[in-house]
Formats: sequence, C-alpha cells, structure tokens
Amino acid sequence: MIVGSDIEKAASFIKNGGLVAFPTETVYGLGANALNPYAVAKIFEVKKRPSFDPLIVHICNRKMMYELSNNVPILAEILSKAFWPGPLTLVMPKNSLVPDIVTSGLSTVGIRMPNNDIALKLIEASSCPIAAPSANRFGKTSPTKVAHVQKQLMGIDYVLDGGSTKTGIESTVVSVLQNECLILRPGTITLEDIQSVVPKGLLVKKLTKNTIHSPGMLKSHYAPQKPLLIINNFYEQLPEGSGLIVHKELMGTKHKTCKVIYTSKTNDLKEVASNLFSSFYEMDADPTVKQIFIEPVVESGIGVAIMDRIKKASFNSLKGYK
Ligand code: TXA
Ligand code: MG
Repeated sequence: MIVGSDIEKAASFIKNGGLVAFPTETVYGLGANALNPYAVAKIFEVKKRPSFDPLIVHICNRKMMYELSNNVPILAEILSKAFWPGPLTLVMPKNSLVPDIVTSGLSTVGIRMPNNDIALKLIEASSCPIAAPSANRFGKTSPTKVAHVQKQLMGIDYVLDGGSTKTGIESTVVSVLQNECLILRPGTITLEDIQSVVPKGLLVKKLTKNTIHSPGMLKSHYAPQKPLLIINNFYEQLPEGSGLIVHKELMGTKHKTCKVIYTSKTNDLKEVASNLFSSFYEMDADPTVKQIFIEPVVESGIGVAIMDRIKKASFNSLKGYK
C-alpha cells in the first residue's frame, strides 16, 4: 500500500480501475471510478461489504449531478446549493450511466460533493465521479486517519494522506424523492439545518420506525474490536481493565480505569464527533484495556448523529452483556 500526497498519481490509479483511499471532511473513503463496474466490485471485495449495501458517488461540481440523474428533484437542487461542498449525501433517481453494482440494484443513487480540497482535486484529476464507502472493513469503525485505514484494509493501490479528518462522522444521508426529505442517516448537518432551507409545505422527516429504508442502515455498525458499553451511572465501580471515553471533565469521580479518553473537555459536540472514532481506535490499540465504557450525549442537534454512531457501535456488545 503506497501512502503519499501525489494527487496525479492517485488519479492515474482511479483511471486505470484501481482503488485509492482518500480523505474527505468526514472520514476517509475507499474510492474507485464510479462508472467502471469492475473497479467498483473491488471495493466490495476489499471491504468485505455485502452487495446489498449501496455506495455514495462523490462529485466535484454540481454539473456532475445532472450527468448521473435525469430527474434531479427540486429538493436536491435546493439542498445541494445550500450545503455543498459539505457532509450531505442526496439520494435521487439514477440514470443508466450509473452501474447497478454502485447502487446495489436500486433505481436511486446517493451523491455528495465533499468539502475537502484533496478529495475535490482527486475527482477533478480522475475525470470521473468516484464511488466511495468509508475505508474500513464492513461493520467496523470508520477511519479518520491514514493509520486507521492501514490497520483495517489491504489491497488498496494508493492512500492519499490528508491528516486527520475534521468532521469525524459520516455525512447526513437524505432521500429527496417524492418532494419530501427523509433523513436516512443523521450527521452533522442536522434536521434543523435542513428544515431551515426547505420551503414551507415540503416535508422534512427523520426515520422513526425500525424499518430499514436504506439497505446499509443496520443496527450494528462502527464497532471497535473490544466490547463497547454505554455508561449512565458514573458512580458505578467499573470492572478491571476498563477504558472510559468521556466528553467533559470528570468531577470528583474516582474510577479505577486503566485509561480515560476525552473526546472534548467541555461537551462541545463538534469536537466530540471529530474525536469519537479515533477514541475507539486508541482504546483498541491499548493492551491494558479489555472493555470500553462510553458516556452518552444529549440527543439533539449533532448529538442525534453522535448517539446513532455510539448505539450502533455498542449494539453487539450490549447483547453479550445482557
Ligand atoms: O461521509 C460519508 O458519507 C463517507 C465519506 C467517505 O464520503 N462515506 C460513507 O459511505 O459513509 P458508506 O458506504 O460507509 O455509507 C453510505 C451509506 C450506506 O449506509 C448506504 O446504505 C447509504 O449511504 N446509501 C447509499 N446509496 C443509497 C441509496 N441509493 N439509497 C439509500 N441509501 C443509500
Ligand atoms: Mg461506512
């Protein structure tokens, strides 16, 4: 796996049907030419991703959206103008240019323009849209640094190093079909942000029931290797070998934990989101930590997306402890 900062070289791999990991503002992506089904097939192979889980197509200008969809919904126009480049994926009807393997056979495609110069330059230099899921093994924690990508994946041709990603959790995924917005995956662009730009009369909805509207939205995801549990009571005695992830300064609690990681000292939710996944990787890498406990955050604003990731990352551990 070559790691470097040569965008032209990375683009030549994409053009030749290879795989390139690259930074976005959210997490690192594992990219291939979205219009080449053989290249896209390699993404599924390397990630061990089931073929029912569709990929996001990354673009570097709004013109490319019109090349991938013949029926761009009005809501896609409004939201893309308001939030692109940025952490927002819009699900809209696809046309025949988009291979079925990208969308897992769906008639819709998720499109986003990332707010990261390296990503935008890579797409531009490759002269094609880039299909990219997060660059981790299926179900595991998304990478926010090159070292995280290297720990998880093999068989990548080139890794573009852009340092740590800023936002830290994946884009908000919104379906804009049938004149309504449905938030399929919460992110740092919140329900309230979307409501503030959508004309009155057009609905903005978040998923409420347990129905899986998006094939990739499973109950378990983002998991570290070690058991992860949400802790509500800070006065509880934690078992030997516990790591604790918290989001604000601990006052007067004395835990016999091996390791405490602060995602923020002040409960700043942007900071929490940015450091969440790297705190999982850090706990996994510490041999003294046997199990990880994590403090919840209030579920409003960006807190909705943070708790979505924490709940899914702890889902399998919860089953084991009950
Ligand atoms: O921030 C992000 O979105 C990162 C960076 C690399 O861009 N990408 C990312 O991709 O998180 P991935 O594959 O890990 O998650 C994409 C999610 C999946 O859960 C998938 O089900 C959903 O988006 N998705 C993609 N296309 C869809 C479609 N046509 N309809 C419904 N959901 C879709
Ligand atoms: Mg992912």
